[in-house]
Amino acid sequence: MATESKTNVPVHVSLIMDGNGRWAMERGKERVYGHFEGVESVRACVETAVEAGVKYLSIYAFSEENWNRPQDEVTALMGLMVKAMAAEMESLDRNGVRFMVLGNRARLDKELNDTIDRCMEMTAHNSTLTLIVLLSYSGKWDILQAAKKMAAEMLEHPERREEMENMGVDGFDRYLVTAGIPDPDLIVRTSGESRLSNYLLWQGAYSELLFTDILWPDFRKDEFRAALESYAKRDRRYGKVK
Ligand code: FPP
Repeated sequence: MATESKTNVPVHVSLIMDGNGRWAMERGKERVYGHFEGVESVRACVETAVEAGVKYLSIYAFSEENWNRPQDEVTALMGLMVKAMAAEMESLDRNGVRFMVLGNRARLDKELNDTIDRCMEMTAHNSTLTLIVLLSYSGKWDILQAAKKMAAEMLEHPERREEMENMGVDGFDRYLVTAGIPDPDLIVRTSGESRLSNYLLWQGAYSELLFTDILWPDFRKDEFRAALESYAKRDRRYGKVK
């Protein structure tokens, strides 16, 4: 049941899911156990986002830097992504959720890429909520790939050089992997860390930030609702005077 106020609901909420490893270790378990529990938190947040009327929910599932983790943890996480997507997709589709994965997909293996393609195709027609999984993603990588795309376009279309030289901030948006997706209104990071860790650096320029000590596997419906309540009280000025 939705208990939060329906006023001032953020259009786009983004979640930096941190603390899975610590949650598992506190219980004397392997780190990967925390990632499994973390998927339950994702489900709870998706349900709550739909109930609240949030239109975009993005989650930082794996950064470009996470490839440097021990190989067995990387393998376990990639396997978990395939399993979670396969297991959740029908229910997401039934609930009107459009599923997207954004990031450096060239680094993902074929099984994961095929699963992602299937899930994205299956849910492409939905519009209640868009769930965006940032996978093999980092903010600096995104800005760099956008700049490269723009440079390539300029070389290919020299006649558009002047138009591109006059391009404003909004024009550059369309080269980022998040093209067409509104910037996050609220970015929440769990587990007591107060940093962005190379996440949505361009898109998060004016996002409201919320840092909580709760570890990701404990971040469920009540915690998500509390984050929405906190957002509803924020005064956003975008550098202007009110
Ligand atoms: C950070 O915790 C968490 C991750 C790097 C992975 C999170 C991924 C999921 C929960 C899978 C979601 C996937 C889908 C497709 C729904 P950490 O390991 O950095 O924790 P620590 O800071 O305690 O070590």
